[in-house]
Amino acid sequence: MVDQLAFRSALGCFASGVTVVTAPGDGRGPVGVTVSAFCSLSLDPPLILVCLDNRTGCIDHFLDSGAGFSVNVLAADQGALSDAFAGPQSFDLHGHGYSEGATGAPVLDGVAAALSCQTHTIHDGGDHRIVVGRVVDVQVTRERAPLVYFQSSYRELSERP
Ligand SMILES: Cc1cc2nc3c(=O)[nH]c(=O)nc-3n(C[C@H](O)[C@H](O)[C@H](O)COP(=O)(O)O)c2cc1C
Repeated sequence: MVDQLAFRSALGCFASGVTVVTAPGDGRGPVGVTVSAFCSLSLDPPLILVCLDNRTGCIDHFLDSGAGFSVNVLAADQGALSDAFAGPQSFDLHGHGYSEGATGAPVLDGVAAALSCQTHTIHDGGDHRIVVGRVVDVQVTRERAPLVYFQSSYRELSERP
């Protein structure tokens, strides 16, 4: 049996970017959740995946087959935006600037890049769901450094000397 603390600590050694994954939501408006478990999957067809904790309050909005969602890749100055969608129960996009992406899911203002996806397949992943999206549109809004997450802290990239 792997020790939980050691497992989490090992995972924390893997630096990642940070995304906010958004969906159109229901009558109460669009929703977003902070996700670092984002990965490219296939170039042809263009597929990506995100892993969502089964306990995420707004998860149902991401599980409709054929539904749209957007993966918003946060820029270095968007740590506060990451915190805003990292719970508890703070999925509401009201008060945050966004426009409607190609699948109807919000594309947040000021992100480094956004991928508009149609839900392709959903897989069991232990206490998470693996949501595979087919990318139908991409936007690279700013040629700039991404927000980086490493050992439970936000970091910035630096050039190798
Ligand atoms: C930097 C960062 C990365 C995160 N990555 C993920 C992730 O990949 N998948 C996930 O399900 N939750 C991730 N979370 C946690 C969710 O954002 C958080 O659990 C959720 O917004 C809270 O939902 P709840 O209020 O329903 O518990 C991350 C949080 C932070 C701050």
